[in-house]
Amino acid sequence: MDCLVCHDTTGNYKKAGPAAGMPAKDVDLKLVAQNVGHSSRASCGACHFNGGGGDAIKHADLSRQLLEPDRSCDIHMGGYDFTCTECHETRNHKIDGRSSSVPVAEGAVTCQQCHSDEPHYCGSVLDHHLNEHTKTLDCNVCHSPVFAKCKPTKTWWDWSKAGDKKRQPKKDKYGKPDYNKKKGEFLWDESVVPDYAWDSGYMKRVLIGDKVDINADVINITEPVGSIHDPGSKIVPFKLMKAIQAVDAETDYILVPHLFPRDKKDNTAYWKHFDWEKAFQDGMAAVGLEYSGSFKWKETWMYWRLEHEVMPKEMALSCVQCHDSLKGDKTCNRCHQENRNVDFKKVAQKGTDFSFMKSKGRDVDELIHKTDYINFKALGYKGDPILHGGRFKKLPMGYKRQE
Ligand code: HEC
Ligand code: HEC
Ligand code: HEC
Ligand code: HEC
Ligand code: HEC
Ligand code: HEC
Ligand code: HEC
Repeated sequence: MDCLVCHDTTGNYKKAGPAAGMPAKDVDLKLVAQNVGHSSRASCGACHFNGGGGDAIKHADLSRQLLEPDRSCDIHMGGYDFTCTECHETRNHKIDGRSSSVPVAEGAVTCQQCHSDEPHYCGSVLDHHLNEHTKTLDCNVCHSPVFAKCKPTKTWWDWSKAGDKKRQPKKDKYGKPDYNKKKGEFLWDESVVPDYAWDSGYMKRVLIGDKVDINADVINITEPVGSIHDPGSKIVPFKLMKAIQAVDAETDYILVPHLFPRDKKDNTAYWKHFDWEKAFQDGMAAVGLEYSGSFKWKETWMYWRLEHEVMPKEMALSCVQCHDSLKGDKTCNRCHQENRNVDFKKVAQKGTDFSFMKSKGRDVDELIHKTDYINFKALGYKGDPILHGGRFKKLPMGYKRQE
């Protein structure tokens, strides 16, 4: 990467489309060079807000909204005006932070490095249980309960439908197009409940040249490695990016198409001739892999960990939003003696205020009274852990007998 893309402070620096990273012709390089300074949300975001070819398309939690976010969109960048590098600390140009896809080893960023393993210390009656939960739940399960809460993100991308000259794009309820001749068919979503999975910090990945199981219903391009039985694994929130992509029907490779024309003479680029055959031949030759000449369309999933869009503390998920068992008359007093100073029902039933989000125009209608936020059974529990026990212990001892 060149220096100016991160160190520009004028906002005028731009890269030209297909020019191998060179600056656009109309950039006043002298002006930019005379105004270099620290990186900013705008300079890092110039690339990272556009993953997947446009704003918020792939990384649901990184969008232009973070240039001027309000505090309920992202408490660090909105409420406290953090820059990216206040978390992604940078020494000698090594930028901390591992991605879910193909991380390089420049260091990790964790919530705990600033907040500690016991971040709840404000003297609330919930502190004890919240800190216990951090052994099993990633912070963002509670602190970022919906993703793409500031802007819709693409959740489905069907490449097999591309190339239809006659099809007119329609706008969905968010005003987003459902079709693009070059790219295929899309679905968009906003304020989405994440998918939750056990994650030990390791990801399984399919890299270019890896063989995949082309008969599987779904090919996972990235997927977390983890288990309910592993004390080092936690429940982590993900955006699932689902798609239809091409695989080689004989060599079992995921195919790499050549999309963007190199120049006027290029006659293999898909976006020029809409001929997949030519595009796969050229693309696979470019990465040095065999292409058998026959392909199939397959569903692929990619797990993207959610890291940003942390909401203010009063908007964190709380007890009743996961534990259906605390919804009725019995709440904390299932296990604790009544306490004159605490209204158990009130503390157990507060939590993310989705009515407030709705009043801000977010699409969260069906979340307002939700009490099964994470599906315990799908994660390997027998049911609500308050009734059936946690993964390694059951509280309080002998609770079953009392019932
Ligand atoms: C990917 C973004 C990125 C690129 C590309 C980049 N820098 Fe930096 N640079 C940073 C960050 C982040 C810092 C830490 C301070 C900050 O946040 O601005 C930094 C710090 C610096 C510093 C302050 C001294 C130091 O090392 O902390 C200098 C000088 C500097 N960069 C020069 C350059 C030059 C010259 C280039 C091109 C060869 C370059 N940078 C390319 C992001 C970048
Ligand atoms: C010119 C485009 C560009 C700019 C500007 C840029 N990045 Fe990146 N960054 C990338 C690309 C490309 C990757 C690799 C993406 C991937 O692996 O999926 C990457 C990867 C990363 C990763 C993940 C690293 C890993 O181990 O996987 C982090 C964190 C990151 N960038 C933070 C920043 C920060 C902070 C800034 C601003 C100081 C910045 N980037 C500026 C293009 C950019
Ligand atoms: C409050 C802290 C915080 C701030 C502010 C922040 N990040 Fe991050 N970011 C994280 C954490 C934590 C991770 C996970 C990194 C890891 O596991 O090592 C992450 C991961 C990432 C990744 C990798 C994501 C993936 O899965 O591919 C990118 C890229 C990234 N951040 C870019 C940015 C950019 C750009 C900004 C500024 C607009 C920014 N971050 C601001 C905390 C932060
Ligand atoms: C089970 C859900 C849950 C998990 C997991 C969780 N939090 Fe919280 N967090 C909350 C709730 C709810 C509050 C508001 C507490 C209150 O109002 O008493 C809160 C408050 C906070 C606060 C404000 C300080 C305070 O004590 O009120 C910080 C900082 C915080 N959490 C950070 C984290 C970090 C970092 C992690 C991961 C290590 C984490 N939380 C994990 C639910 C959770
Ligand atoms: C670079 C340090 C740093 C990192 C990394 C970081 N935070 Fe924070 N966070 C802060 C600071 C500073 C504040 C403001 C002071 C405070 O409330 O402790 C804050 C505030 C908060 C709050 C309270 C917000 C409120 O309502 O006032 C929550 C919740 C929170 N962080 C959660 C997280 C989560 C979740 C992560 C990981 C995704 C994370 N933080 C990563 C430094 C950090
Ligand atoms: C995001 C969902 C979520 C939220 C919010 C949540 N919990 Fe839990 N809770 C869990 C999970 C998952 C477990 C199982 C942990 C384990 O396996 O050890 C659990 C376990 C428990 C247990 C222990 C059961 C046992 O036998 O080990 C108690 C008690 C409990 N939660 C109370 C609370 C209280 C009180 C709150 C509010 C402060 C709360 N929970 C908020 C998901 C949640
Ligand atoms: C399934 C039974 C169960 C439920 C429901 C439950 N707790 Fe607890 N709680 C425990 C147990 C057992 C402990 C003792 C410490 C431990 O093993 O986690 C405890 C510890 C505590 C503590 C720390 C006490 C101390 O002396 O340090 C507080 C405070 C607390 N709970 C509050 C609550 C509140 C408030 C609720 C409801 C929102 C609640 N608990 C719901 C079982 C429960």
